[in-house]
Amino acid sequence: MLSDSGSSASPGTIPVTLTVNGQERRLRVAPWTTLLDLLREELDLTGTKKGCDHGQCGACTVIVDGKRINSCLALAVQKDGARVTTIEGLSSGSLHPVQAAFLEHDAFQCGYCTPGQIMSAVALIEEGRARSRDEIREHMSGNICRCGAYANIVDAVEDVLKGKSSSRSSSVREAAE
Ligand code: FES
Ligand code: FES
Repeated sequence: MLSDSGSSASPGTIPVTLTVNGQERRLRVAPWTTLLDLLREELDLTGTKKGCDHGQCGACTVIVDGKRINSCLALAVQKDGARVTTIEGLSSGSLHPVQAAFLEHDAFQCGYCTPGQIMSAVALIEEGRARSRDEIREHMSGNICRCGAYANIVDAVEDVLKGKSSSRSSSVREAAE
């Protein structure tokens, strides 16, 4: 289904160029390949999780050109030329403030939803739309946690929001440029 750009092109595949975590990646993909499958299966970026594969759980959340999306709902070819940030690209040497806050507040149990929760929270903070716990809950409602760690997740996001000036993500700013 997927092939490196360096190999001979498989019939029916389409060239796609993405900048993923700051690195340009040129690939050929079948037209039905989702961004999620491209990230996980071709680029081995398995931090982005596949939960429902139908846009219902948020486990696959990544940031594309500064906006959070469910990568299971986006075809890779639709994102040709885009800048993509995954959980692997969030930190640069030290933990991103949202990652650190999740650890500090014990905002996970099994951890399966956690990359999507963190990517969604990073984008939410950048959006500047959440100012209260209720607004955090509302704007994170697309990210489901089967373990029910919601209270601690809201604690973590609220903690970073209170210190927003020092928590802005350089990776997301870069993605939006
Ligand atoms: S795997 Fe994409 S929303 Fe569930
Ligand atoms: S920590 Fe298990 S699903 Fe959220």
